Amino acid sequence: MANPSLLILPGDGIGPEVMAEVRKIIDWFGNRRGLAFDVSEDLVGGAAYDAHGTPLSDATMARAQEVDAVLLGAVGGPKYDSLDFSVKPERGLLRLRKEMDLYANLRPAQCFDALADFSSLKREVVAGLDIMIVRELTSGIYFGEPRGIHTEGNERVGINTQRYTESEIARVARSAFELARKRSNKVCSMEKANVMESGILWREVVQEVHDREYPDVELSHMYADAGAMQLTRWPRQFDVIVTDNLFGDLLSDLAAMLTGSLGMLPSASLGAPMANGRPKALYEPVHGSAPDIAGKALANPIACILSFAMALRYSFDLGDEADRLEAAVQTVLAQGLRTADLMGPEGGSPVSTTAMGDAIVAALDASAA
Ligand code: IPM
Ligand code: MG
Repeated sequence: MANPSLLILPGDGIGPEVMAEVRKIIDWFGNRRGLAFDVSEDLVGGAAYDAHGTPLSDATMARAQEVDAVLLGAVGGPKYDSLDFSVKPERGLLRLRKEMDLYANLRPAQCFDALADFSSLKREVVAGLDIMIVRELTSGIYFGEPRGIHTEGNERVGINTQRYTESEIARVARSAFELARKRSNKVCSMEKANVMESGILWREVVQEVHDREYPDVELSHMYADAGAMQLTRWPRQFDVIVTDNLFGDLLSDLAAMLTGSLGMLPSASLGAPMANGRPKALYEPVHGSAPDIAGKALANPIACILSFAMALRYSFDLGDEADRLEAAVQTVLAQGLRTADLMGPEGGSPVSTTAMGDAIVAALDASAA
């Protein structure tokens, strides 16, 4: 059988630097665990714009549809701020999500014990935190029509539309319930049913899917604003949170910050199963392109490395190998290794991006010895 295929899209800013470390990890699994991947690499975001005048070429899009999983670094940067909206780096990422129909975005927010003191919240509030935000990713106000800016009378009007169909809500709800069954069996759904019709429908459909297919899972509903408050007040009350595209964008940034380690958080964006049974999938770190530190060997490669761990788990059914990689990350943190983003106020000497990658490879070596 052919090796599983991976398309790597390093993108912009720190994307290429962190991806170089992921490639060491991929090579390690090939050499040491006999898990060879067919890896190809291509451009996305500003890098693709510079080369082709588009943030995602049709050829790259087609390749993304063919492979078993896509691994993306980050897109965007100040250099591209003045570009027309239609060719901004972010449009490349949004096109991938939409055309691959990656409707379920899994964003774990996990507080690593070694880093609990970095949270802006007290240690006792965040220690042991392990929640999973499931964000709807291909619909809602990000993609709804009508949209645009037009002129009415003597002023301009900006329009976006929040739109959800029942089936769009139901499928992401199923993803959340399935995940909950493998975790603490608890889902909290967040919307604004008090002010938005799409929120009323969201709440009804999530409840229906629950009652019909997942009555064993504990389900609660919360308005998204109250959800933001509860996430900051007492985040450990949550296990899986399911929410729409825009609320999920906000709440996942909030949740990421609780952990004190934005540079550590991975994500998976999953769609329907392909012919080979694997879900359409794209994996990317939650952090962005961080142009301010790009090229300085300061970036933390852990979020991107843990995104590859998610690929092992969700695309390739290699949960044990994902556990092995996650344990190697825990090992280097326990050893006290820190990239610059993980330096507390008391300071210390940070390790470079490549040194962190090398240390994780060494920890993997030790685990396989
Ligand atoms: C994210 C980002 C993206 C989004 C941007 C880069 C388009 O903020 O993945 O959360 O808004 O979805
Ligand atoms: Mg975001």
